[in-house]
Amino acid sequence: MPERIFIGVAWPYANGPAHLGHIAGAYLPADIFARYHRRRGNDVLMVSGSDSHGAPITMQAEAEGIPPAQLVEKYHATFLDAWERLGITFDTFTTTMTDNHRETVQELFRTLMDKGYIYPGTMKVAYSPDFDRFLPDRYVRGTCPKCAFEDARGDQCDNCGSMLDPVDLRDPVYIRDGKRHPIEVRDTEHLFLKLSAFEERLREWVEPKTHWRPNVRNFTRGFLKEGLKDRAITRNLDWGVPVPVEGYEDKRLYVWFEAVIGYLSASKEWARAKGDPEAWRPFWEDPATKSYYFVGKDNIPFHTIIWPSMLMGSGDLNLPHDVPANEFLTLEGKQLSTSRNWAVWVPDYLDRFPPDPLRFHLAANMPETSDSDFSWAEYVRRNNDELVATFGNLVHRVLTQLERNFEARVPDPGDLGPADRDLLERAEAAVEAAAASIEAARFREALNVGMGLARDANRYLDKQAPWRQIHEDKAGAGRTLYASLCVLAALDVVLYPFLPFSAQRLHELLGRTGRVEDEPWEAAWPLPGTALPKPVPLFTKLDDSVVEEMASKLGTSGEAGSPS
Ligand code: MF3
Ligand code: ZN
Repeated sequence: MPERIFIGVAWPYANGPAHLGHIAGAYLPADIFARYHRRRGNDVLMVSGSDSHGAPITMQAEAEGIPPAQLVEKYHATFLDAWERLGITFDTFTTTMTDNHRETVQELFRTLMDKGYIYPGTMKVAYSPDFDRFLPDRYVRGTCPKCAFEDARGDQCDNCGSMLDPVDLRDPVYIRDGKRHPIEVRDTEHLFLKLSAFEERLREWVEPKTHWRPNVRNFTRGFLKEGLKDRAITRNLDWGVPVPVEGYEDKRLYVWFEAVIGYLSASKEWARAKGDPEAWRPFWEDPATKSYYFVGKDNIPFHTIIWPSMLMGSGDLNLPHDVPANEFLTLEGKQLSTSRNWAVWVPDYLDRFPPDPLRFHLAANMPETSDSDFSWAEYVRRNNDELVATFGNLVHRVLTQLERNFEARVPDPGDLGPADRDLLERAEAAVEAAAASIEAARFREALNVGMGLARDANRYLDKQAPWRQIHEDKAGAGRTLYASLCVLAALDVVLYPFLPFSAQRLHELLGRTGRVEDEPWEAAWPLPGTALPKPVPLFTKLDDSVVEEMASKLGTSGEAGSPS
């Protein structure tokens, strides 16, 4: 029975191109997961889109001197291009600027309001007398009341991850044009989401989630332990989704409240686009569907507290099954900073290098359970030692032997010997082990299974030495190469979610036609007699000078830098 899998991926703010932190944090793990499940024959819907509202957008639009909508269009286009070239296979990647999103948000809002989960109240709002304006949370900076970090933002502390209110900050200021402006606090009427009503239900829901990553579950439980405060979901703004309530014409819905609803609106958009407007329903309404949300760790509370509360309040929509949040990626040992251009931008990377070595390196080094570091030296090393010398070399050795000595055809293995059979069993076990790891969102582990198999096959080849066997025992050489081809076929399954472009080429090098993603998730042994095309290397060795070349681009201006 195929399973139904919904995959939501954090919506990137469209205030700059994607960088490696985004990819390692959410897009790559989600794509690996989606590709695996599709090949397994499961029904997958993977959605996300450009987060188009909120201070990150308006601040960058101000900096670029263009209207927010134009800013979003511009970076949305760069996202779509990046997903295409990096092979991130969204079923729908939309924006929060669509009519469909606005309608979906307002409908869910009304449901929550009708059920009494949204109510008016007064909130203290930061106000700048110097500029006569209310300030979005993010515009306010100050000291975090929880961890004493001095440069916390008014909406969230980047140091400890706490969600904040700007008025909670100690010594709050509004920094503009490099100057620190004082802020006042004014009482204003806003609408509140009654999070307190969900505290108990959330606790009961989270407790049995023992399959969650420990950091995600602990963070969520700690959060609940502190008690849930109702939160204002409207803001004094003119850019955002309008509040469908009279008297709120000069306010907009808080960006986090409406952005998470994007998962639902994007699903509806997907259904409509494929000509079956109700097709989103089973993904949201059938309790057998499993929903996964791939996000960075700073997004955890929005996906394990706020969004689940909204879903509980709305009625019967599916709650997350898992939120496999990643930790952060650092770059050459330092925290990523888009404003200081301490970042590797995906479009720049793809203009210079192929996609798979990046997918490979980021997956092998994924910040699954703790922060991890990207360095160009490690990127080059892994490309050369692992992709070229281990996997690529295995493929090349086998295929060139077959070209030279077996008329470029899959040999007839006859009866396999014990060593050959062992290897085939290893290959079959690897396909199953990798599946289990991916299903549990342990991607590094799955990749290690594949690379371990490649190493074993290299060792087997060294030992059997078909290039020697061919002179003494041609049938023996045929058996060895056949067993090796079986490993290549298994690797074309296991490594496909990580290296989809190379897997397609390997698929063709094995004499197969069509798209590799249409093959099932199982090791299909090659058919004796199949003609094999001329072997070409899958990967290219990189010169050490790449390290210097790429590292010298970091921290310099000139590229589209943006505050994050
Ligand atoms: N734009 C947010 C960020 O970059 C993520 C939003 S995820 C959503 O941190 F689900 F709320 F959309
Ligand atoms: Zn803090």
